[in-house]
Amino acid sequence: MSKPKILSTRPLFPAAREILDLHFEVDYGRPGEQISSGELLKRVADKEGLICLLTEKVDEELLAAAPKLRIAATVSVGFDNIDVAACTKHNVVATNTPGVLDDTTADFAWTLLMAIARRLLEGDEWMRSGTWPGWDLDQLLGGDVWGKTLGIMGFGRIGRGVARRAQGFQMRVLYSDAVRAPADVEKDLRAEFVDRDRLFRESDFISLHVPLLPDTRHLISKENLDKMKPTAYLINTSRGPVVDEAALAEALERKKIAGAALDVFEAEPKANPALLGRKDVILTPHIASASVETRTKMAVMAANNVVACFEGKRPPDALNADALGLR
Ligand code: DGY
Repeated sequence: MSKPKILSTRPLFPAAREILDLHFEVDYGRPGEQISSGELLKRVADKEGLICLLTEKVDEELLAAAPKLRIAATVSVGFDNIDVAACTKHNVVATNTPGVLDDTTADFAWTLLMAIARRLLEGDEWMRSGTWPGWDLDQLLGGDVWGKTLGIMGFGRIGRGVARRAQGFQMRVLYSDAVRAPADVEKDLRAEFVDRDRLFRESDFISLHVPLLPDTRHLISKENLDKMKPTAYLINTSRGPVVDEAALAEALERKKIAGAALDVFEAEPKANPALLGRKDVILTPHIASASVETRTKMAVMAANNVVACFEGKRPPDALNADALGLR
């Protein structure tokens, strides 16, 4: 019997390929190459399953072009690339990869936080250029991390991971979220629920962990940046459009805040040119979850979701299971 045909827009990792190759005839994307939207539409047309990345849109156009499609599995926890309602309409299961990247992403938010506060990249650049004249008292003075106030926007699994790590730095932790965390979580993480306004005004570090929603697009606006302390730092490992990059560049220029470290951008793969030359900014290419272990787990998770779908089971990470009446 012939195996069902699926498209994986990337070659993935051996552990995920092993699972997929057993069950499917897989059309894999080429290593290191982004698939254009035109090519994606063409290659998905005769497929029953799709494994895609957050850079690839699963929307009405794609769903209409792939009439046999049964599942669209994004290898990411964020699923703003997937029109879940349109998937439901087309009877396509949509899945993501929650849970496995929380600690890796929280680690990276901390990497950025410490690097921007302690001017790590400037120090590295000084050494490499061979121009460091030797120790002096007032060189590369940064901001202390320990004992400061950390404001976490979005208190889901990743935000809580960031809060957990703050305990080792004796920080005061504030958080805002649409939903207040249970009392035992607040107690365990020593985190105080505050409104956004207070979080902006009182935090020395603001770390973003919200999904991209109409309410969070440009949450970091001129108006909110103006509320921040001039000594505060902004860290973004969530989604680029949560930050108005032009407003951020202007706030930095006006010294409204001390610095920013961004792993995600409004129009990836580009960052706003006004940010590029700034020493008070660290820019990394959307790598917060990029550890070997975690990216492998994400790919395996996506593969297992697709297998479950074809075995007639409810894929463990289905986003529209209820809407589709999956049991
Ligand atoms: C995600 O999974 O949504 C991240 O942005 C990439 O790991």
